[in-house]
Amino acid sequence: MKILFAASEATPFAASGGLGDVVGSLPKALAQKGVSCRVVMPLYSNIPSHFREKMSYICHFNVVLGWRNQYCGVYQYNHDKVGFYFIDNEYYFKRDGMYGFYDEAERFAFFSKAVLDIIEYIDYQPDILHCHDWHTAMIPVYFNIFYKHKEKYSKIKTIFTIHNVEYQGKYGMEILQDVLGLPESEKGLMQYDGCLNMVKAAIEACDKLTTVSPTYSDQLQTPLFGCGLDREFINQRHKFCGILNGIDYEINDPKTDPLIYKNYSCQDISGKDENRKKLCLEMDMSDDYRPVVGIVSRMVAHKGMDLIKLSLEHLICSGFKFVVLGSGEYVFESFFNDMHNRYPRQMAVYIGYNKPLSKKIYAGSDIFLMPSQSEPCGISQLIALRYGAIPVVRETGGLKDTITDCSFGRGNGFCFEKYNADDMCGALFRAKNLYESRAVWELLIKHAMSCDFSWNESATKYVFLYQDVLGLK
Ligand code: GLC
Repeated sequence: MKILFAASEATPFAASGGLGDVVGSLPKALAQKGVSCRVVMPLYSNIPSHFREKMSYICHFNVVLGWRNQYCGVYQYNHDKVGFYFIDNEYYFKRDGMYGFYDEAERFAFFSKAVLDIIEYIDYQPDILHCHDWHTAMIPVYFNIFYKHKEKYSKIKTIFTIHNVEYQGKYGMEILQDVLGLPESEKGLMQYDGCLNMVKAAIEACDKLTTVSPTYSDQLQTPLFGCGLDREFINQRHKFCGILNGIDYEINDPKTDPLIYKNYSCQDISGKDENRKKLCLEMDMSDDYRPVVGIVSRMVAHKGMDLIKLSLEHLICSGFKFVVLGSGEYVFESFFNDMHNRYPRQMAVYIGYNKPLSKKIYAGSDIFLMPSQSEPCGISQLIALRYGAIPVVRETGGLKDTITDCSFGRGNGFCFEKYNADDMCGALFRAKNLYESRAVWELLIKHAMSCDFSWNESATKYVFLYQDVLGLK
């Protein structure tokens, strides 16, 4: 079985969030199960030079996109037994950053077409094209319209995975022919709710549709979470399922992680205390008995930042300390800076992306807060569990599938159901009460660290899905 992944980002080359983590780690887990996997992504200019220097040139050709005829170079680099292909076009990808440009539709339509075209040139004949999020939504669409009937493509199946339905690739209908190069006859497939919607078209065009947790797959079929596409998910439910994300247990291992202050393990958690002390020291916070709450998140409302904004001062005054890392909307960034200025010894903030510091926060925090309004899967709570920072989460999407409240016997965290600040504070105070009983808290840490959210089980589910779509079972 040969699987070709297509995505706009992947660790360790270029990533802005959970999508990159999944595309960087799932192929490795599949390879360990004997499934051959390769990945295609754009050759962004921010890919570190030590990777670029070792890439080998494979070929180049031109990609036709409507009236455009664009250069496309292909480079390859092997990482963790997975081959990565990089699509080179300096006009589209040699920019400052990966996303947020005026011609996003054109950039990723070009990328999608390039992914399909390279199959003619590389020494890899995939059985399945596994596409991720809106950037690659045009792949199943172009596949059905322009490629399926060609000899080399006739047996290929397409899978489309939704990591976050809030990004749908929505544009005015006028890009149909001019930018996407599609005939007028495809208007019905591409149109939804008065505009062009790439994700809607991919949902219909793909052979199998997945998302990143079972609860989110149920939620997507409701108006509250479907972001306008709930009817589409219901219509396609015969081919739709949710498979929980995992994390790379080799990279995320407190026993060996070189980025944390002191290594520790589930059997011997004594090093965790030193991580906490050193984190407080590095962030210039008081090193006292008060619980350290870690937050590593994009600073946007749907991650629950508005709830945190409402209650942070009250929580600090009630004996919590906070270490916050992330970036996002100005209103939240300036709020955290302001709170740091007012409570410098109880509240530390780092605005931006900083992998080593994020690892130190996971290792040095007692509690990890994730009050998301919606969360397709969530990766941070899984890393927090692995490093023994007890998650306090809102019960939604993948958070619901991975965190069980301690009041139900052997829980691994604290949950609240209703999206409001009082309930979030309630869950934090329940955590704090338990934290004050040292021996019980240590048992909780050990239990959290022993939960298995590696890729092992979920990668097996993908293997079953691949077998299913190929008619092998
Ligand atoms: C998106 C989702 C997040 C998920 C990640 C990887 O970033 O918001 O919940 O874990 O994709 O699938």
